[in-house]
Amino acid sequence: MPKLSVEGFETVEVESGKRLVLAIEQDAGVDILHACGGNARCTTCRVEFVDGEPERMTVAERDVLAARGLSGVRLSCQIICDQNMTVRAISRLAGSGRKDAGHEPAAEIEPPPEWINK
Ligand code: FES
Repeated sequence: MPKLSVEGFETVEVESGKRLVLAIEQDAGVDILHACGGNARCTTCRVEFVDGEPERMTVAERDVLAARGLSGVRLSCQIICDQNMTVRAISRLAGSGRKDAGHEPAAEIEPPPEWINK
């Protein structure tokens, strides 16, 4: 099982194939935002990779990051846990002023992923 380390939190083992946003929230216990419910629209699920950044990304992730002019971050709702990863959770409910993190992302990546190499 892949290991997930969120800086400042305990390293956990996660089910291979789980969406990273769900692993951060449910396994690592971190209050990451997912305002659009994991649909590659809001970018609030963004993380910075310290180690283990996946080479592949979804077209939806590429497009929304480009549209927002974002670099150096990845969208955790568009990433599958299939290797060990270390990330910084830079977009959390605490301190955001939001009333909740957003509705729960589905178990599978949405929209249906079309993979490219970043
Ligand atoms: S882009 Fe909205 S939750 Fe990932």
